[in-house]
Amino acid sequence: MLDVLGNLERTHSCGELREQNVGERVVLMGWVAKKRDFGVFTFIDLRDREGMTQVVVSSETVAEAHAKAKSIRGEFVIAVKGTVVSRAEGTQNAKLATGDIEVKVEELLILNDAAVPPFQLEVAGSENLAAEDTRLKYRYLDLRRPQLQHNIRMRAKAVKAIREYFDGRGFIEIETPILLKSTPEGARDFIVPSRIHTGKFFALPQSPQILKQITMIAGFDKYYQIARCFRDEDLRADRQPEFTQLDMEMSFVNREQVYREMEGMFNHVLKLIDVDLPAEWTRMTYAEAMRRYGSDKPDLRFGMELKDLSESLKGTDFAPFADTLEKSGEIKCIVVKGKADYSRKQLDELQEFVKRYGAGAMAWIKIGDELTSSLLKVLGEAKITELAAAAGAAKGDAVLIVAGKRSVVAASLGALRNEIARRENLIDRSKYECLIVTEFPMFEHDDETDTYIAAHHPFTSPMDEDLEMFKTAVNDPSQHNLLGKVRAKAYDAVINGYECAGGSIRIHQKDVQALNFKALGMSPESSRSQFGFFLDALEYGTPPHGGFAAGIERTCMILVGTENIRDVMAFPKTASAQDLMMDSPGVVDPSQLDELGINVVDE
Ligand code: AMO
Repeated sequence: MLDVLGNLERTHSCGELREQNVGERVVLMGWVAKKRDFGVFTFIDLRDREGMTQVVVSSETVAEAHAKAKSIRGEFVIAVKGTVVSRAEGTQNAKLATGDIEVKVEELLILNDAAVPPFQLEVAGSENLAAEDTRLKYRYLDLRRPQLQHNIRMRAKAVKAIREYFDGRGFIEIETPILLKSTPEGARDFIVPSRIHTGKFFALPQSPQILKQITMIAGFDKYYQIARCFRDEDLRADRQPEFTQLDMEMSFVNREQVYREMEGMFNHVLKLIDVDLPAEWTRMTYAEAMRRYGSDKPDLRFGMELKDLSESLKGTDFAPFADTLEKSGEIKCIVVKGKADYSRKQLDELQEFVKRYGAGAMAWIKIGDELTSSLLKVLGEAKITELAAAAGAAKGDAVLIVAGKRSVVAASLGALRNEIARRENLIDRSKYECLIVTEFPMFEHDDETDTYIAAHHPFTSPMDEDLEMFKTAVNDPSQHNLLGKVRAKAYDAVINGYECAGGSIRIHQKDVQALNFKALGMSPESSRSQFGFFLDALEYGTPPHGGFAAGIERTCMILVGTENIRDVMAFPKTASAQDLMMDSPGVVDPSQLDELGINVVDE
């Protein structure tokens, strides 16, 4: 038999009572986290979003409540009326904010019962958590865990801080539609069929890119929005098909002015965790980041920079290296301090690791009591010694070497650098290293189709210095490959190795925009049919403008210190883009499909 809440009102939360409340009569409500029966006394840990309070029911003083307490199990919802008392000497719990007191129950109401949860909510250490799929299916239970409660509340604070920042700087919050037309950000669109216009589809925004640019054309000058974005792309630990951005745009600005807003916003948000960042962050060009770290989002909390051995190996007759250099590839390495004792098995594992990034092999040098190397036989001791010196390695170190195409060397050594830092605990978790990576390439070459695709998105402006080269590359087919050299006014904000934001100065001239569509292989007809409205808009007095978008989830991952994006989303999807709680995506009623004129073909 359940009790009714009636007029009863809570006086305090479960995280609030302290020694100074002793003697007060209180009413608490919450979930039963734990119950312990000790004969006369039953102890209940009562939990709500603010914390936990121990309540005690005695069969001697309140027989009826004590009898009720007997029937209570974990996650029952109860209310207690009672008096705050000091805990007896030696029974205080220093781990609990309310650990000096307990509530002596006078009346107990069972407001709701609960089935036995399919997994244990209270576990010591995240490694003991139930399987993630189970927790996602019963997300409402998982969300009761204090850690997730904390994360979701931190997210709310972050969004509030972002609004505070931009409101204070004269930005106007403008909502843009979710039912939209394709906005290219490099992923596939999620599309929504129209019932009224059978056979036609909306696309969900991959970002509000075009619309925010149109707010600049419309004269709003400074726009921001907390925007939902949808991208049908391969998922990773830091990617979701549906996520949220702080999206902003401003008119009459240069890159530095946008960087200042990026720095200002992140610096304001990171104050939430008492981190003081420098007013001006380090800036590094894309070319330098790739050269030194093999990554466009280097984690600067540790060193281990890539070193180029190509010069030292010029003229070598060792075929794999000679071949690499002849094909304008690179031979680079990283030095792992103090790891001359890497075992054969460990080196094999690291080699398997780099192979995942396309490397053919990984050579190594170990400077232990003696010099050993996988290259000793082919290069000889003198050359190995020279290479170790060129790498900057010292006694006790290991040198890990990869040769090949520039992009493969960067990807594999860049990833290896992160992997070793993780394995060897080289990352100082109390540090926050922020960086703005600038001058990204304008295009990426797609080897499969032998075409150039936009590295950021098709509205990004080339660098002024590269504008002529860009025009030549587009207009002269024999110079098409120059596109690979054009740099863009595009930039990313990187915190601790995470790309937290990206943006650019946009093309504001119609002819340059048309040229860019051409560079991307679009015929005038297809660019007209997709983006005609935008080309038209560019004709009516478009101010120079630029902006950025920050991933709210990525930012919150930094704030709460997790590497799993699902930890900062209330209702995330799995790595295979499903919602396990709602069991979506799901089938729809055939009549709904009929109305939409859609026929599902069984594979
Ligand atoms: P971009 O595609 O770089 O730029 O996205 C901006 C930021 O959004 C976050 N992000 C994601 N977070 C979670 N899951 C995803 N699938 C995902 N994809 C991106 C990242 C990223 O830095 N319209 C441009 C911005 C601009 O040019 O102003 C854009 O969307 O933190």
